Amino acid sequence: MEIVKYIDESAIAERIDKLGKEISVEYKGKNPVVLSVLKGAFMFTADLIRKFDFTPEVDFIQVASYGNSTESSGKIEKKTDLTIDVRDKDVLIIEDIADTGLTIRYLIEYLKSLGAKTVKVCVLLNKTAKHKELQVDYYGFEIENQFVVGYGLDFNQKYRNLPYIGILVKE
Ligand code: IMP
Ligand code: MG
Repeated sequence: MEIVKYIDESAIAERIDKLGKEISVEYKGKNPVVLSVLKGAFMFTADLIRKFDFTPEVDFIQVASYGNSTESSGKIEKKTDLTIDVRDKDVLIIEDIADTGLTIRYLIEYLKSLGAKTVKVCVLLNKTAKHKELQVDYYGFEIENQFVVGYGLDFNQKYRNLPYIGILVKE
């Protein structure tokens, strides 16, 4: 496997700085629940929420739709659940990537079923061409339809620790 650098550390940091400011305007005076989607969004979440000038509650949920391949299985499985009651609260989902959009659709529906007052979505990477009419309120970068790793994103659980986003080139 070879990894080609695609979005470097400084570009990520700069973009997150701007995103943090934008999101801070939206949630000024509110105390939303930030819901980070494990595992892929852990690094993005840690960097992004440090830029917020409001005080969110922070929770995690783990869902899986990928087996051990680079294609979505089309089925979402909840692995660990929320620990905060989101009824009547504003919720901001933080996810690593919108690919087919199935995960985000599933989470929006799930949070609404729990009685969330509002649900917004922030993803680091948006494969815009892969999904239609998906609710994405904020995103870091629009990317081509290719498999990326690093900065939280994995291939077979590896490469999450890379500080940049890279394209995985299979030999
Ligand atoms: P979905 O197809 O939008 O539901 O995406 C499901 C999940 O697949 C995402 O949360 C990611 O964890 C993973 N995923 C999708 N595209 C990529 C990729 O290019 N690299 C690594 N993981 C990905
Ligand atoms: Mg993920």
